[in-house]
Amino acid sequence: MTGTTMTGRSRDFQERATRVFGGGTLSIWKLPDDVPITVSRGQGAHVWDVDGREFVDYLMGSGPMLLGHCHPGVMAAVQAQLARGTHFHLNNERAVEFAEQVVAAVPCAEAIKFTSSGTEATFYALRLARVATGRQLVLKFEGALHGSHDYAVQSTAPPALSPYPRGVPDSDGIPTGASESVLIGEFNDLGGAQRLVERCGTDLAAIIVEPLQRALRPEPGFLAGLRALADSCGALLIFDEIVTGFRLAWGGAQERYGVIPDLCTLGKAFAGGFPVGAVCGRRDVLDLTQASRRGQAAYAWFGGTFNGNPIGAAAGLAALDALAADGVYDRLHQIGSTLRAELNALGQEVGLPVQAIGDGPVSQVFFGTGPLHSYRDTLATDQTRRMQFGNELLRRGILVNPGEKLYLSLAHSDADLDRFLSAARGALHSLR
Ligand SMILES: Cc1ncc(COP(=O)(O)O)c(C=O)c1O
Repeated sequence: MTGTTMTGRSRDFQERATRVFGGGTLSIWKLPDDVPITVSRGQGAHVWDVDGREFVDYLMGSGPMLLGHCHPGVMAAVQAQLARGTHFHLNNERAVEFAEQVVAAVPCAEAIKFTSSGTEATFYALRLARVATGRQLVLKFEGALHGSHDYAVQSTAPPALSPYPRGVPDSDGIPTGASESVLIGEFNDLGGAQRLVERCGTDLAAIIVEPLQRALRPEPGFLAGLRALADSCGALLIFDEIVTGFRLAWGGAQERYGVIPDLCTLGKAFAGGFPVGAVCGRRDVLDLTQASRRGQAAYAWFGGTFNGNPIGAAAGLAALDALAADGVYDRLHQIGSTLRAELNALGQEVGLPVQAIGDGPVSQVFFGTGPLHSYRDTLATDQTRRMQFGNELLRRGILVNPGEKLYLSLAHSDADLDRFLSAARGALHSLR
């Protein structure tokens, strides 16, 4: 894809989408008006729009497509399951097999409950923590994204600093009680978390953290410190591994960073591109969902029509099979490190303060010179340039969510990386 202006069927679909979708978009963001991409198909690390224009994909479905689009193993597994039935709302072969594999892989997992999305998974993880502890407060970190429910959309992307430990709801319509039950801390500020625990620890049900917060790495000792704080006050530690699970390592961020939470949430990549989420962790906590407890003992309602859907489970089994191959995580870390190093070098070459941060196949680009440890640090960088950089990549045939994370996959070839870096060089020059 070259050139800066797009016309044709993509634009027609864009106009139709604007008319038919509430708010004009599928989720919470949309592409700039001059790049109205409407996807027709994807293959590997590439997508084509309805006008036949090809893009190298660094959005990857917002993370689920870690194996690339139309991975042959996933496609075959899904086709085989399609012929046997698409949904039962009952124990089924694929769901049990998939659950066993996930539980065997994830260090904290003694048991698992499936959901249909990441949002449901974090919602239920927090409910489980509240039932397990009989407490209401949860601590989350400014800038962390845990989905779209009322306890999650608290200081996810506040335009100004949060009045710690109070948060800023990211949406209207959230009951005050929900907002008041969520305390906000600063990622990588263990001292701050400690002070909060000293003040409110006896009321704290959970500390929920993205172990790699967006693309911000945890500093040495931060996650272990949260583990110790949760233990000290009897709260549960929840790792939201919806991005990091099976992506930073086979056992996710808990394996990579060596800290084991009580519960973790999974989603995105682990089901090979199908809408599946999960909560896994301590059996005693997950067993609070036993129907026989209702009205008799502490009980956590945990339902969902599509939980354990066999198509998603078949896709997940095939995805785990592919991810278990030798060298997978070496490759994901190698291409991620190369991408970040080359981007930082390009920044120097062009004379812009580029900071490409992240871990493994997850990266994000900021424009600023200060150290980046927390959301506050990222807020102090040049937000306009960050968006412009993304928009310029789009205009050069690189599919991204402007300003947000870049997702690499096993389908990205060295040539795909080169195309990205050449587009990035052009984009950076145009920003100067
Ligand atoms: C870390 C994290 N948690 C939770 C979610 C929510 O997942 P979903 O969009 O499937 O509801 C996301 C989505 O991007 C996420 O990145």
